[in-house]
Amino acid sequence: METTVEIQFTEQELQKIENLKTRYLKPDSVILEVLYLLQEKYGYISQEGMKYAAELLGITEEQVLGVVTFYTMFNTKPIGKYHLQVCTNVSCMLKGAYDLLKKLENELNIKKGETTSDGLFTISEVECLGSCGTAPVVQINEDYYENLNEEKLLQIIQELRNKTL
Ligand code: FES
Repeated sequence: METTVEIQFTEQELQKIENLKTRYLKPDSVILEVLYLLQEKYGYISQEGMKYAAELLGITEEQVLGVVTFYTMFNTKPIGKYHLQVCTNVSCMLKGAYDLLKKLENELNIKKGETTSDGLFTISEVECLGSCGTAPVVQINEDYYENLNEEKLLQIIQELRNKTL
């Protein structure tokens, strides 16, 4: 069950948002920055986080929800320590992205959209990551892993597992 965490930016974070607002004609233009900050701070964007963002920007929760659900980089539920984002857009698909996705699902014993029971890995299928020339690509947290094959990917998974031992 999801626990409720109080959402509150620090004075410094609020000041950063206020400074960014001065660059735009409309204050809600900084919505992506607010959402990134929420995700960085809390790991995902909860219902409470969306409410907080809406109040901060003077827009409706539905408007915030629309942005959050439009972009695949925003998580609306808690995710694992390592977020495995498999691009299956055209270039990656042609270079075997679906085989990589299947391999990951089998290796971790979860389906895309799920998190392993130890909280270590979450798999997501995502749209183009903008690195089509080095397809297939998997983004793990902030890092890109390019020109992948199944062997390399399993090696990366093992290295990530070893890091947490
Ligand atoms: S299609 Fe995968 S990075 Fe562009």
